[in-house]
Amino acid sequence: MALLDLNPDELLATTRAVRKRLDLERDVPDELIRECAAAALQAPSGSNMISMQFVIVKDPAKKQAIADIYAKSWAVYEKMPGFAGAIKKPTAEGQAQQDRVADSATYLARNMSKVPVLLIACHNGSRLDGLPAFASASTLGNILPATWSFMLAARARGLGTAWTTLHLMFEKEVAEVVGIPFDTVAQVCLSPLAYTKGTDFKPAMRPDPDTILHWDTW
Ligand SMILES: Cc1cc2nc3c(=O)[nH]c(=O)nc-3n(C[C@H](O)[C@H](O)[C@H](O)COP(=O)(O)O)c2cc1C
Repeated sequence: MALLDLNPDELLATTRAVRKRLDLERDVPDELIRECAAAALQAPSGSNMISMQFVIVKDPAKKQAIADIYAKSWAVYEKMPGFAGAIKKPTAEGQAQQDRVADSATYLARNMSKVPVLLIACHNGSRLDGLPAFASASTLGNILPATWSFMLAARARGLGTAWTTLHLMFEKEVAEVVGIPFDTVAQVCLSPLAYTKGTDFKPAMRPDPDTILHWDTW
């Protein structure tokens, strides 16, 4: 598959959470999904042991069931202080971006079942509950970078994704829908996967790098 003409910095800066611009009418070829998985497999893994797993959901009934669980989680999230639509930003520009995020996230919550593919990223071998810091960081480290690599590879192929975690409020119910062994496999992310409407995405407004850098001391 031909890749979009994006240099590495452009790819990193324009891999956005895509929701309203997901093409709900166009199928995603399995081969592209395999290419994204191959990219994910190049991510680092503790002791060089592959524990990442990706569940690809295309079955309409299963997508509907997951979308229903996501909508149930969304109803809880909408009432939380951290709801994207409740967050106030100090500048008009920042507030406009925040409002767009809330609007876009609401759209996904209402249209999750219509997306051609749902991707569930999982860690195989242990759950996260109650792990000490070393073990939880190692567990997450074995799947989160890989999932982001999957998403970057998707973007390079004209596909959009959006990192979501809300369904984890009801993780076990989603596990039952697709047969994930809940006791030994931790889900970490649910993402739509679809061609994007157009391929031109802009970098998001972000703070100055010096606000997150600590040189030699915190
Ligand atoms: C840990 C994490 C959890 C997220 N959970 C959700 C979610 O449940 N639903 C959703 O619509 N977006 C979710 N997002 C996507 C963010 O809303 C999105 O990254 C943010 O609005 C910034 O947009 P951008 O990634 O395009 O810059 C999540 C992102 C992260 C990193």
